[in-house]
Amino acid sequence: MSTIIRKGQESRQRPESHVCRLLITIDGPAGVGKSTVAKKLAARLGYTYLDTGALYRGVAWKVRSSNIDPGNSDQVAELLSTTKLELAAHEHALSVLVDAQDVTHELRSLDVSQLASTVAALPQVRHWLLPIQRNFATEGGIVVEGRDMGTKVFPEADVKFFLDADPEIRFSRRYRELQTDDQRKNLDDVRREMTLRDDRDRSRDVSPLIPATDAMMIDTSNLSIDQVLDHLTEVVSARQ
Ligand code: DC
Repeated sequence: MSTIIRKGQESRQRPESHVCRLLITIDGPAGVGKSTVAKKLAARLGYTYLDTGALYRGVAWKVRSSNIDPGNSDQVAELLSTTKLELAAHEHALSVLVDAQDVTHELRSLDVSQLASTVAALPQVRHWLLPIQRNFATEGGIVVEGRDMGTKVFPEADVKFFLDADPEIRFSRRYRELQTDDQRKNLDDVRREMTLRDDRDRSRDVSPLIPATDAMMIDTSNLSIDQVLDHLTEVVSARQ
């Protein structure tokens, strides 16, 4: 296996010496606003941002382009043993490189989303991604988002959030997001896709989507991104 992760946030703010650099996890289902909030929170704090869903999407992309059976864990594990996955962090975005090819713009489609959720149920895939995710957070000062950040990948995190929202609100948020992309979908397709994915992510045997027992639960149904962000910042500031 050859796996390299680059961190490229040269422009990150240096912290005041008395401020401690925390490891912050944000988990929750799709469409809850986690990516936007996590990215903004990281920027506000001068922290690194890690989107672990992008890693699962990178694996899905590789599986799809290799034409192997995504449900065959042996085949997927063998494929990963010769796969190089890199995340390149820029000031405002993350790029995903699979075997040195930048595939970032191919990762948001509904079919890659589904496949990411399918391969994410394989213990071999989760195991392969574990050190990659942890390598990112060796120095603290990071906001990580995903499904199992607070429960499995970083159980020792300093601050844990779990965001949730009414499913219909999540479906329409994702629907609106997709209208700005090339792939215009109708609300029913988005609802069907997200329900399938939610069910699979919540019910899998390994690292299912559940809140950590010590996570702070936040219902974002009736909150704007800025309101959520202000709330999270307040909690984090009290811990620094
Ligand atoms: O966050 P996202 O929608 O980009 O994630 C895509 C899929 O990847 C999601 O449906 C489940 C999987 N995933 C996971 O199982 N664990 C994570 N920590 C992040 C994502």
